[in-house]
Amino acid sequence: MKKSPIGIFDSGIGGLTIAHALKEKLPNENIIYFGDTEHLPYGEKSKTAIQNFSKKITQFLLEKECKTIIIACNSASSVAYKLVKELAGNTPVFNVINPVVAEVVKQCAEYNIGVIGTKATIQSNIYETEIKVLCNFAKVSSLATPLLAPMIEEGFINEDISHTVIANYLSNPKLAEIDHLILACTHYPLIHQEIKDYYKGKVNVIDSANIVAKHIAKQLEKNNLLSNSNETEHHFYVSNYTESFEKSAKFFFQEDLKLEEVNLWD
Ligand code: DGL
Repeated sequence: MKKSPIGIFDSGIGGLTIAHALKEKLPNENIIYFGDTEHLPYGEKSKTAIQNFSKKITQFLLEKECKTIIIACNSASSVAYKLVKELAGNTPVFNVINPVVAEVVKQCAEYNIGVIGTKATIQSNIYETEIKVLCNFAKVSSLATPLLAPMIEEGFINEDISHTVIANYLSNPKLAEIDHLILACTHYPLIHQEIKDYYKGKVNVIDSANIVAKHIAKQLEKNNLLSNSNETEHHFYVSNYTESFEKSAKFFFQEDLKLEEVNLWD
């Protein structure tokens, strides 16, 4: 069981930021990653569609005997967490929302919290709901920022186009009063510094990937599920392979990797 892989899934390649953070924290673990590149972007899909995709991927990861499943996608975490948990039975499931919410509520002296993410994540209102469970006087202001994920995928970071798109979104009056900003999309760690620079230290920009990885590492340790093997084997599956996905995948994982195509839908 301890040597079984950790299963991670996302709509595509953004979840590799979580896989990367986790690999840094837990270098002895085997990882099975599934990126649903055939159906991305989830951020633009209906709740039912995202739930159906998540179900199929969860079955795949369970067949691969993963000891835990991580939903490394905010859009899927927003609408499919309960369902994935039900399907997974005794296999622990983690989403990328609750660890961040717990940390934010702990960290934030004043609770004026901004959230940016895909349309699916923002429309679900999940961050506000979960933050209010822990702190009902928090003020939460959310904004959908759908251009950011494709912009990052195309490699537009730290340059004029990304500065303009980021400034355009962050200057929205909805975010005018915030003290903290949650980057509620697994693509956004790649523009964390750029967003920090935009605010010039006036807003605490929360780095979700590390918070999530830290939380999962702690829970796996607590449940005695950590591997101590020195030999690791990772697999990075996608539902649709292109060279361009592979190129972006390396950029998100910050390491060389090979994508393998599997079709779960035939
Ligand atoms: N991975 C998705 C998320 O974190 C962003 C990309 C998409 O819309 O599929 O919400």
